[in-house]
Amino acid sequence: MTLGKDKIQFLHTPTPLTRLDRISEDLGIDLWLKRDDLTDFGTGGNKLRKLEYFIKDALDQGATMLLTVGGAQTNHGRLTAAVAAKFGLKSAIVAVDPYPGEISANLLLDGIMDCHVYLVKDEGDSPLDTAVARVTAEWEAKGEKVYYIPMGGSNELGALGYYDCAVELAKQCQEMGLSDPHVISTVGSMGTYIGLATAIANENLPLRLTGIGILPYRDIRRSAAKYYERVKTAYSLTAELGPEDFDATSDYDYGAYNNPVEDVRDSIYYMGRMEGIILDPCYTGKTFNAIRKMVAEGRIPQGETVIMLHTGGIPGIYTKHHRIEMEKELMDHIHII
Ligand SMILES: Cc1ncc(COP(=O)(O)O)c(C=O)c1O
Repeated sequence: MTLGKDKIQFLHTPTPLTRLDRISEDLGIDLWLKRDDLTDFGTGGNKLRKLEYFIKDALDQGATMLLTVGGAQTNHGRLTAAVAAKFGLKSAIVAVDPYPGEISANLLLDGIMDCHVYLVKDEGDSPLDTAVARVTAEWEAKGEKVYYIPMGGSNELGALGYYDCAVELAKQCQEMGLSDPHVISTVGSMGTYIGLATAIANENLPLRLTGIGILPYRDIRRSAAKYYERVKTAYSLTAELGPEDFDATSDYDYGAYNNPVEDVRDSIYYMGRMEGIILDPCYTGKTFNAIRKMVAEGRIPQGETVIMLHTGGIPGIYTKHHRIEMEKELMDHIHII
């Protein structure tokens, strides 16, 4: 039980905390990966920790179907589908996105897990809310009880998944003798980062946290403070945190969400070639690229112990708009003999 809320624990935790020896030597830092990409279902990823709380709440309410929203290639939607399948529920995703021209990556995995994906035209007032209401009504007319999970699973309940992760990680660091670890997390819809930050502040955990925005925020620290206020109120927490207490940056977002970026691809190749570990182009590739830049700029000092949270997202590599550039760059690795 965390902050008075129960979850159904279906993940094998703790997830591994692994040292990246070759990159550590190359960059002059002590770099570790917290492998939340290795979580159990639907090819893994950070949303599963949030879903341990959502599935409990959904089942308590008698739900027979999980419905969530995101882009057509939402990782969160894919993992919602996985958890629905595991617990014998139906699932659906509503996305304001055109059909991407092929059933690949997350869309392919969604279909395999029997998840229905509704693609909505971006027209009229609040097309997403309208479509969610329509899809919910259609399924409820067929006798289903629909449980709605917001974008990215980022609300007060979802944040608890990463509250737990911070507690787990602090224990691992203590057991492994890592001193003054600097944790670096991706910031998308922000539930992961806020869950970590909430636990660090309220449990006095010996972790420093930096969030890397991977989409343009107008003011990432102010957004963090607002989200934290909601969590603080929901669970009557004591730590007072304002925008200045959140270390989060928009300096490495490259101006857009999920955009094909050469620097990010270069960082994905570097990780793959140095460590045999795969990052994704939308989230973890951008975050690791930010770490490389921060080391080069001296924002991360030499010798520092850095833990990057690997949040998964690998299917993103197989989407057409990322594949096109990579196929060109990697053609010299194909030899027809
Ligand atoms: C692979 C991956 N990493 C990181 C994130 C960001 O997590 P959050 O939305 O909680 O900020 C997401 C969100 O969709 C994700 O799919």
